[in-house]
Amino acid sequence: MCGIVGYIGAKEKKEILLDGLQELEYRGYDSAGIAIIEGEKLSNFKAIGKLENLRHKTEAYHSEGFGISIGHTRWATHGKPTELNAHPHLGAYSYVVHNGIIENYQELKEELQADGVTFLSQTDTETIVHVFEKFNNQINNPFEAFEKTIEKLHGAYATLLITEAAPDTIFFAKNGSPMLIGFDGEDVYFASSDTPIIGKANEVYYLEDGEYGFVKEGKVFLFNAEGKKSFTKQALTADKVSAQKDGYRFFMEKEIYEQSYVMTETMMGRVHDDSILFDELDENFFDGISAIKICACGTSYHSALASAYLFERLAKVRCDVEIASEFRYKEPLLTKDTLFITISQSGETADTLEALKMAKRAGLRSLSICNVDNSSIVRESDAAILTRAGIEKGVASTKAFATQTMVLWMLALYVGQEKKTLASDILKTEVAAMLKTPKSLVVEEKLHAQLTRMSKRYLHGHGFFFIGRDIFFPLALEGALKLKEISYFHAEGYPAGEMKHGPIALADSTLFTIALMPKSMHYDKIKSNVEELSARDATILAISPEPFELADDFIQTKYDSHPMLEYFEMMVVTQLLALEISVRLGNDVDMPRNLAKSVTVE
Ligand code: AGP
Repeated sequence: MCGIVGYIGAKEKKEILLDGLQELEYRGYDSAGIAIIEGEKLSNFKAIGKLENLRHKTEAYHSEGFGISIGHTRWATHGKPTELNAHPHLGAYSYVVHNGIIENYQELKEELQADGVTFLSQTDTETIVHVFEKFNNQINNPFEAFEKTIEKLHGAYATLLITEAAPDTIFFAKNGSPMLIGFDGEDVYFASSDTPIIGKANEVYYLEDGEYGFVKEGKVFLFNAEGKKSFTKQALTADKVSAQKDGYRFFMEKEIYEQSYVMTETMMGRVHDDSILFDELDENFFDGISAIKICACGTSYHSALASAYLFERLAKVRCDVEIASEFRYKEPLLTKDTLFITISQSGETADTLEALKMAKRAGLRSLSICNVDNSSIVRESDAAILTRAGIEKGVASTKAFATQTMVLWMLALYVGQEKKTLASDILKTEVAAMLKTPKSLVVEEKLHAQLTRMSKRYLHGHGFFFIGRDIFFPLALEGALKLKEISYFHAEGYPAGEMKHGPIALADSTLFTIALMPKSMHYDKIKSNVEELSARDATILAISPEPFELADDFIQTKYDSHPMLEYFEMMVVTQLLALEISVRLGNDVDMPRNLAKSVTVE
């Protein structure tokens, strides 16, 4: 959610900022802006919409010599996506960029307005720069003014501030939103994740919550509530795996096609003929654990829901799953025999991170399943299993979901194996199916073409129901989420057996039902559910290995012997269907409206 970059040094600053923001654009693309101070010269540019608008606006500008600079790409939280609401926000002589939410901004704003300060934007961020200048005007000491400013802020933030009162210094603070500092000799970089600085910096320090300070003359002065503190830099990888589209029309399309390959990566070194190994977990990790609780959001929540069936069925361990934003405020009863698992593609989702912190405070052992190493959730957890999906740029998650599901399936087997609750012949059968997964994910040209043709029949109507039973119910939820994210149609996932308890009232010819009808799991049950809908004239798109005569449209899948193989094959069908509907509607597939890749606000 939003992206921050910063740079202090003698290199050309505009390009560093714009290139960095390009890497972060998928996190928010309502507007973008940069501010640069070089000696006496202050430059500031903002543009609404995609970054290319800002590039266009800054074409004639070039920075020269030593200077300080900050940039931001925004996903709107307070105030519309306008130029005035774009960061950096200006005071009388300072600029600020910020990720997160200042919860007490209204109160601070009212105090400042009572002092005669005029606000230009509707954002919470603008209060930071005015509070800073108020203090600095009183004490004429920019660092102390900054320190006093952050003492006043409640909420989650990662922020950078530059000011003409200290034209050789960048001030920074982090609490609840990610931020790191990159180093290359005298040059110092800031960013809200490491991609913008890979290839530029060779060492990095990931700021902890409550840390703040300033950078001057290539040196970082770091503080927290206890005072000045030292820190240790770590090496930053130099090889930039910059995700390119490789001939695909969209990142999402490329990522769907990559699923087969990345699945092999996910399994590498972990899946053996008759056992599962996780080097990340020490052998006593599950000692004393008799239940599992999983917290996640969105797509990650759907992978969690599917895994609950697997943990109970295969490992015989009680497992319940909660949406992280609900879990945080329900005053949950937590017991230390529960392993707390968080699932997150980005590793920065605020609700999931806070849920994890709550569980840790309650003394629970924690494990994260994540796609981004060194992310906040990974660093906060006792142990982490990386999904190895590679950078996912499409805002609508695909390969991250597939690999999360795979890791969870492996983990269910691993727990059963470690706790000796899973018979060795079942383990072998599961592993044999697992090894076939990459094949089940290969996108066949014929299937893609069929879905492209079919998609034109689904551009109207009053809604979509994705229905399934057992693990195919979470897959239905995920299919519906994918469609709604990029088509903007109303779509719902439902347990097939629940339709008759109310939703069937909506059935008519323009209610599109996407029926997940696996052969290896409850086929006859779901068939009856779909027949009930067909009898009410709902339009049925059936996805099944078994021909179904009542289907208005039919996608025949190939796998019919193992539910997980059917699951992955059907997942691809639902992803491609959503993609092709979105393409026909002319929507922005990779950056759908109102969304951002990483949701670092509550
Ligand atoms: C997925 O398509 C979504 N964009 C969204 O639901 C996402 O899964 C959710 O915000 C959680 O993100 P995370 O996995 O990075 O924690």
